Amino acid sequence: MIEKIEKLMAEIEALQAANAEEAEALRIKYLSKKGEITALMNDFRSVPAEQKKEVGMRINQLKAAALDKINALKSQAAAGSQQCACIDLTRSPYPIHLGTRHPLTIVRNEIVDIFSRLGFTLAEGPEVEDDWHVYSSMNFADDHPARDMQDTFFIESHPDIILRSHTSSVQARVMEKNQPPIRVICPGRVYRNEAISARAHCFFHQVEGLYIDKNVSFTDLKQVLLLFAQEMFGPDTKIRLRPSYFPFTEPSAEMDISCHLCGGKGCSFCKHTGWVEILGCGMVDPAVLEAGGIDSTVYTGYAFGMGIERITNLKYQVKDLRMFSENDTRFLDEFVSAN
Ligand code: PHE
Repeated sequence: MIEKIEKLMAEIEALQAANAEEAEALRIKYLSKKGEITALMNDFRSVPAEQKKEVGMRINQLKAAALDKINALKSQAAAGSQQCACIDLTRSPYPIHLGTRHPLTIVRNEIVDIFSRLGFTLAEGPEVEDDWHVYSSMNFADDHPARDMQDTFFIESHPDIILRSHTSSVQARVMEKNQPPIRVICPGRVYRNEAISARAHCFFHQVEGLYIDKNVSFTDLKQVLLLFAQEMFGPDTKIRLRPSYFPFTEPSAEMDISCHLCGGKGCSFCKHTGWVEILGCGMVDPAVLEAGGIDSTVYTGYAFGMGIERITNLKYQVKDLRMFSENDTRFLDEFVSAN
């Protein structure tokens, strides 16, 4: 009898049921009136008196174990079928999650839009460039530090072929194909050999502007940039130009806008100065015009270049540059685009 109980106990422990019906069949097999454990209890009568205590205890244990196990199998099966019931085949597939434009694309489009209203047309150039278009034609001296490995990505075995480190290379490409009047806006990706952090990345995006014609002056440049700043950051935005240096412009300047978060009063965003830097600009150096095949005694021009990430950070206060390239949809979904 004890042996039989032990055999049944092992059987019970190993029981499996794929669904509720199989679990019920097991209950019938072991615990119904004609079940195996019920039969054991009926046999109990013939157990010798001195074994009754031990056998009785074991049968009770077996019965309890069987009940527990079969109930557990039943609730498992019920949970499983509930999961199936969760798939509602009648549910409408709409609205479909369409995604949004990338914030950098939204801002790029906005910048291009503002300048196209001022008569600028779109021009683009290759990201894999040669030294001439990125540096030499832009009046960089042979030993200019920007050519250094620390800034520029070189293509191995082709020291003349590089990843462009600024969109000024598109200026060179436009000039070699066109004579003034030239009025272009050139958005694109650029690469610099920098360690990736919250504030720097090995690639980012710029927009270059170039205007060449007779009698183009610094006043024209200033007025266009003021209009851009006010369209982009609101009509109360002020601009300030600080003298600077770029090999391809003379004179050169860096432009700040009044901090749109504190209205110029000073806050932690503008480091309590009331101003934030947004772009570099200047009058095209005559040497650059000549390199592009344009007569610098007849024509003058201005150029400017800005980082799209920078403008986007100012507009949306994105604190970490890496967010732009991580493809985290929780971040991207915050930018519902109109265009
Ligand atoms: N190319 C410059 C840069 O990458 C920006 C610039 C463009 C400055 C055009 C002046 C004129 O920082």
